[in-house]
Amino acid sequence: QVKRVSVPEIAARKGKEPVSMLTAYTVSVARLLDPHVDCLLVGDSLGMVLYGMDSTLPVTVDMMIAHGAAVVRGSSHACVVVDMPWASYQESPQQAFRNAARILAETGCQAVKLEGGEEMADTVDFLVRRGIPVVGHVGLTPQAVNALGGYKARGRSEAEQQKILGDARAISEAGAFAIVVEGVVEPLGRLVTEQVGAVTIGIGASAACDGQVLVSDDMLGLFGGFTPKFVKRYADIGPLVAEAAKAYTDDVRARRFPGPEHVFGVKKPT
Ligand code: KIV
Ligand code: NA
Repeated sequence: QVKRVSVPEIAARKGKEPVSMLTAYTVSVARLLDPHVDCLLVGDSLGMVLYGMDSTLPVTVDMMIAHGAAVVRGSSHACVVVDMPWASYQESPQQAFRNAARILAETGCQAVKLEGGEEMADTVDFLVRRGIPVVGHVGLTPQAVNALGGYKARGRSEAEQQKILGDARAISEAGAFAIVVEGVVEPLGRLVTEQVGAVTIGIGASAACDGQVLVSDDMLGLFGGFTPKFVKRYADIGPLVAEAAKAYTDDVRARRFPGPEHVFGVKKPT
């Protein structure tokens, strides 16, 4: 029985050894990644990556719970963080608590993640004081796609940099133990990391962040859709899957599969 990486252990990594986080949505992927990362994130990106939605907005708490529980069952080492989906926490601290408590209780994950800045600080404080560890998410926040007008990098103007820095500060001071910093100009990722107490986890941010996260399907070449500039391809699994599907169909059509070793009641030739 391996002990899981805990929230305080992640929090203690500030300014020390970088934190490695990858997304997982399923048991099979969680099992493969779990021994090698510090954190598994059940991201609401699953709406786009697994379900083909054109944004993360339609993702529900029930979907996050189903996938979160699967990832917890498929892992024994990593700290598991589950995203709160859009409209499950913005209404009030009480609404956020209700949904976060369900996510924790019904999945067995260790923390929830929510997007937003100063306007969410009261909610983060409300959850943390009541025993729910929170990861923040600032910069390019995909649930705000309509307000932001797309998925463009943030912090190109001085005013926007100050706004995002203020957001990160507010969320950190409210008690978030970590903050995902997404899609910001590099100097801002660095500055936020220097200026907040929370562990910063960058994605399209800066190598100076206290950790990094990527969407696994992107870094594995499994997601056929648009791949952002900040994704490094560590493997190209997609073509392997396509080749396997083609080889299988060729075998089925030629009656090469199943072979004698794959069927019951046929004696092995001696
Ligand atoms: O939903 C997600 O996968 C995320 C990461 C990109 C940080 O929030
Ligand atoms: Na997300």
